[in-house]
Amino acid sequence: PVPVVLDVDTGVDDACALLLAALHPALDLRGVTCVGGNAPVDDVVRNTLVALEAAGCRDVPVARGADRPLLETPVDARHVHGDDGMGDLGWAAPTLAPDPRHAVALLRDLCLEAAADGRPLTLVPLAPLTNVALLLRTHPEVSSGIERIVFMGGAADVGNATASAEFNVFHDPEAAAIVLDAAGDLGIPLTMYGLDVFYEPVVSAEEAATLVEAGGRGAAELGGRLVAFQCERFATSAATIGDAGAVCAVIDPAGVSTRPLPLRVELAGTWSRGRTIVDRRDWSGDLAHDPHGEAPTRVDVALGVDGPRYARLWR
Ligand code: BDR
Ligand code: CA
Repeated sequence: PVPVVLDVDTGVDDACALLLAALHPALDLRGVTCVGGNAPVDDVVRNTLVALEAAGCRDVPVARGADRPLLETPVDARHVHGDDGMGDLGWAAPTLAPDPRHAVALLRDLCLEAAADGRPLTLVPLAPLTNVALLLRTHPEVSSGIERIVFMGGAADVGNATASAEFNVFHDPEAAAIVLDAAGDLGIPLTMYGLDVFYEPVVSAEEAATLVEAGGRGAAELGGRLVAFQCERFATSAATIGDAGAVCAVIDPAGVSTRPLPLRVELAGTWSRGRTIVDRRDWSGDLAHDPHGEAPTRVDVALGVDGPRYARLWR
């Protein structure tokens, strides 16, 4: 199995991603780190522990990380994810406790252990990139323990937090810019699973109801309830598995089509701050044609996905 670490802001769809990462035999979930985003970080830690406990996953360390973006003021997404950040399901509090280490310390330890074992990790950030930016700038030596980073964030086309910017990058644009820059310098391959594919894998309200019937407060019931919450909130007959799609992209990379493209994050901009600028010009990367005269990091950008294939993987 592929050793993975998730960085999350759980989050309805982060919870869907955690269930998949905890249970799929192709993955070896080594740890989970939490960051403020969809909800304040303490709620994120609780929601993450709830999801792992429902999956019967009691030995994976979960660490609390950054409670705010590097520069920006935090903006949560309760209108999308509910007041508790995870669908207000009234689920019992977790009996599991978080790891005492800070998220950045846990990430460093896991990466160094992976490097020592000769089995580098795939890091899967599904949230604002604050923890990952702090990790790569503070402990660049972790690069030998990271195989690649597959992150949910950004959009080549339209945004969601604003018309221009996707939520995770909008929430902490400086962190995203640092991750691009540091990964480029350290030679860590990046895959962007952004909004261009995010909404494609969906689960229907009927399928969710079948999952809920499993009961027993296990992974199936929780996953079903999370999908049902989204269908109800947005008055739709199906809901995206969201962040879980990025986990699918690790399990089944052939289900997503990517192109290696230069990527920048807009840090100024009145209406476009936090936008990911994907250079799809035919001559992209040709510095002779670039008035900025510096090479942006090339990222494998997901531009197409087999939605039903990923939805099946999640169910
Ligand atoms: C991203 O923002 C959050 O609402 C979701 O959890 C996902 O990570 C989508 O823009
Ligand atoms: Ca998320």
